[in-house]
Amino acid sequence: MSMIDIVKAKARSDVKSIVLPEGDEVRTVEAASILKKEGLADPVLIGEKGSIEAAAAKTGCDISGIRIVDPLLSTKAEEYASLLFELRKAKGVTEEKAKELVKDPMYFGIMMVKTGDADGLVSGAVHTTGDMLRPALQIIKTKPEMKIVSSSFLMDCPNKDLGEDGLLVYADCVVMPNPTAEELAYIAVAAADTARRLCGFEEPRVAMLSFSSKGSAKHELVDKVQQAVSIAHEIAPDLLLDGEMQFDCALVPEIGKSKAPGSPVAGRANVLIFPDLQAGNIGYKITQRIGGADCFAVLQGLNKPCNDLSRGCSVEDIVNTVAMTAVQAQE
Ligand code: ACO
Repeated sequence: MSMIDIVKAKARSDVKSIVLPEGDEVRTVEAASILKKEGLADPVLIGEKGSIEAAAAKTGCDISGIRIVDPLLSTKAEEYASLLFELRKAKGVTEEKAKELVKDPMYFGIMMVKTGDADGLVSGAVHTTGDMLRPALQIIKTKPEMKIVSSSFLMDCPNKDLGEDGLLVYADCVVMPNPTAEELAYIAVAAADTARRLCGFEEPRVAMLSFSSKGSAKHELVDKVQQAVSIAHEIAPDLLLDGEMQFDCALVPEIGKSKAPGSPVAGRANVLIFPDLQAGNIGYKITQRIGGADCFAVLQGLNKPCNDLSRGCSVEDIVNTVAMTAVQAQE
């Protein structure tokens, strides 16, 4: 069974309600119809009923039985506005502004998750990553034990000798443009947690990537990764984590042995931590486009699960991301 089939089976075992704020977007409506039909989630489409029905008619999909919530007509709007005001007044949000914000489907959806009226949220078929992330960061916030929110990409590679039967976890490829050493350490710990919980890795083996392996190059960028390794060892002493190391040193057994002898991770890593967002984002796209891997992104460290889509996403991408969000919500 592929990783995504395992995730889908898990999602079906305890169905969660997932909000889709881009409710009248055609791919989203079609995905909602599939999610409902296949019992993967209880989707909630946010938007004006007429335009959602028009989008469904365009694709010919059946949306009967799917919950539609219009923020402009919802009886919850007042409650959400007053909670949003309380949460954000110190940041300059007035009562008037809060009332305006909850009319926005993204904020309305985030408030549904915040209050427990829904279990998770998936957006980004229309919105940019920043527009999706900002309200989640401001309102849902980070888990108490985590300092930051970041992301993991689950890379399902055709070469089954890599990682865990071809499955690798990459982080961070979406959120933190230029993490400090401490933030990099937290990204590593969070990615190991995602590997364990979502991918079922019994033993995450985390490589902290660099252009240097074990001091082969001297540079302040290398120093940062070395510091991140020390901090990660303090935060999670039992985690198999090592670095700094080059990409081939992390993945290829013979190179791992020669460049990092005695390392518990080199040559057999299944979780790869990139030193910044440029490296991570470029790295996952190379693996996807040249390496032929299927990839699935999740946010980690948020107090409730919210996940982002690429604006070029397919209906299948939305279905898969909702299934992963539903599994995160089960925890
Ligand atoms: N973890 C936790 N909280 C955070 C984080 C984080 N990583 N980043 C920002 N915040 C919090 C801030 O503390 C702030 O909270 P507050 O308002 O309560 O004080 C709030 O979020 C907003 O912070 P800002 O600094 O105003 O937000 P910013 O403008 O920096 O945006 C964002 C944050 C959206 C994550 C930004 O860093 C970003 O755009 N990242 C890159 C996104 C991207 O374009 N990714 C690549 C494409 S995705 C792809 O290819 C799949």
